Amino acid sequence: MKPDLIRPEIATLPTYNAGLALDRFQALYGTRCRAKLDSNENPLGPCHGAVEAIRAEAAGIARYPDAGNAALRAELAEATGATPDRIIIGNGSEDLIGALFRTVLRPGDHLVTVCPSFGLHEFGARACGAHVTKVPFAPDWSFPLDGLTRAMAAEAPRVLIFSSPSNPAGPAITEAEFDGLLKATPADTLVVFDEAYLEYLDAARRFDAMARLAAGPNPWITLRTFSKAYGLAGVRVGYGIACTPELVAQMMKARNPFGVNALAVAAARAALRDPGHLARSVALAAGERARLAEGLGRAGHACAPSQTNFVFFDTGQTATDLSEALRHQGVLIKPWLEAPFTTWARVTVGTTEENDIFLAAVSTLRRAA
Ligand SMILES: Cc1ncc(COP(=O)(O)O)c(C=O)c1O
Repeated sequence: MKPDLIRPEIATLPTYNAGLALDRFQALYGTRCRAKLDSNENPLGPCHGAVEAIRAEAAGIARYPDAGNAALRAELAEATGATPDRIIIGNGSEDLIGALFRTVLRPGDHLVTVCPSFGLHEFGARACGAHVTKVPFAPDWSFPLDGLTRAMAAEAPRVLIFSSPSNPAGPAITEAEFDGLLKATPADTLVVFDEAYLEYLDAARRFDAMARLAAGPNPWITLRTFSKAYGLAGVRVGYGIACTPELVAQMMKARNPFGVNALAVAAARAALRDPGHLARSVALAAGERARLAEGLGRAGHACAPSQTNFVFFDTGQTATDLSEALRHQGVLIKPWLEAPFTTWARVTVGTTEENDIFLAAVSTLRRAA
């Protein structure tokens, strides 16, 4: 293969730091996983109805699914108040991030985001030849409004993207901060509000982000997923709600027509019909994340405040070293590889048992150091 075959935007990207699937972990480390806390999955798994729906749908998989995902869009429209033509379904919300960037970003465009941030917010943009400016969170982990405002004034970016509650840090933007940020955003900038962890947000901190977005001049889209609180990471399904049907129609051209499989759609529709499972999943995460943060604090680790199903903490060493040592004890967490946070790691809130295993392993390693 000639070296110039690969586009430089792709050749210079790092490999995505994905969590380890259970079978890969076992094959690589030769030990049983005791606590899988590296990918922000729901430790309760999917609701019973989703599994049943997949079983029922399986008989029909010789047929292509509906490329327009009409049934799921209609049900999401009912659940969210948006019209179906403003909703787009993806093979996970990561699929929609890629489709969106392919739809709007030209080589040389600017994108502004926060740091630390979900890797694909940066990678997908760089793959399209865009320049990415990452504005660090404030030391108290509040959203860096001044820095974002300065970056946007300097660069007039095509896209502003960030998640709230934030992956990997955990905090959520407040309504006042959100309004302030929107006021500071150039009117042509597309605002991408990634709400992958929306369901975990405390009720007192919720606000109607779509109404705030709709009140301003910017084009916008919010992104959501069934991978986290709904426990459906393995089937891959997420969705976006956009400012206009036009944005959805254009993104549909940049998405694979049959990218969302029939089993995923069946599972997502069933998950929407089980609010009890969702509530139990969120309650488990809220209680256990407080306990995890307390335990980590007692062990001397600084933690970012979390409104999610994970805790971001300073390991006090190169995070990959702690992560590797934990793997040998059957515990998976995600070391952060993005400077200047390479001593930080993200641990997903698991079951009570998994969290205890993690906390015990961390303190054992600390004593041994
Ligand atoms: C902030 C954020 N956005 C999007 C995604 C992608 O989720 P999925 O593709 O599973 O829907 C994730 C997954 O970890 C995430 O943390």
